[in-house]
Amino acid sequence: MHLLSIQSLSDEQIAGLLERGAEFAADRRAGAGRLADRTVFNCFYENSTRTAMSFAQAAARLGAQAITLSVEHSSVKKGETLADTARTLGAMGPDALVLRHRDNGAAEQVSLLAGCPVINAGDGTNEHPTQALLDALTLIQHFGSLEGRTIAIVGDVRHSRVARSNALLLPRLGARVRLAGPPALMPDGAETIAIDEAIAGADAVMMLRVQRERMERELGDAPGEYLRLYGLTRERLALAAPDAVVLHPGPMNRGVEIADEAADLAGRSLILRQVANGVAIRMAVLEMLVRQP
Ligand code: NCD
Repeated sequence: MHLLSIQSLSDEQIAGLLERGAEFAADRRAGAGRLADRTVFNCFYENSTRTAMSFAQAAARLGAQAITLSVEHSSVKKGETLADTARTLGAMGPDALVLRHRDNGAAEQVSLLAGCPVINAGDGTNEHPTQALLDALTLIQHFGSLEGRTIAIVGDVRHSRVARSNALLLPRLGARVRLAGPPALMPDGAETIAIDEAIAGADAVMMLRVQRERMERELGDAPGEYLRLYGLTRERLALAAPDAVVLHPGPMNRGVEIADEAADLAGRSLILRQVANGVAIRMAVLEMLVRQP
């Protein structure tokens, strides 16, 4: 079994992962030794701090060894195709392979060739299922349940695999999702609502990074303009429900899509909680996919 997308998960699997993730989050010694002697290959073809380190940390807590492919020093630089890399790594017999890649569908392609469970740690603008699961866990810990809650997901929706996976997952858990962003950063054909309207009365506001590396054309915004027009400032957050919480998958562009005063808002910014829950959810995912000794 692989974890390639939110759609590939049944409601029971989602519930199981969230429950197990909550257990791992509550007790950092839970799961110790469960995957002893297993190896997890971490292959990140795009930059990552949170996702890469939390997969490694998750593997370590379960007693498995995470082995990192140094893409910069790998044979990609010699022109090897992703398919050949997948077959090559698979031939070494890892117990799971975690892949981040700039191409949509890359994890699926590798899953057909590697001969081991493959986990999608972000493929292009397509999906980032473990991020959505950790976001859901964070919101459920805070609210108890997502039933009837309104979550505004705001920013560069067009390029965000995080937005896509969350838009697929959160409604299945009972939440209403409102997507909003600058017109140029909304997907083609998306129904657009104004950012202030999306945030109004929301229980949670999830901000998205402006992903300039994926843009074909420069945004052309003057310094400070993005924050003023589209970013989460204290004033804009005041439109949300009283005590609404703030999320961001990271990395943050402080002063662009999010102001310091929102990012660091004591008791209401859940951003570091998201990071901690990333380890717990990835432990649950590895436990589900990796054959136990
Ligand atoms: C996100 C990603 O890589 O999709 N980061 C993450 O995994 N937490 C979001 C982003 O890069 O903006």
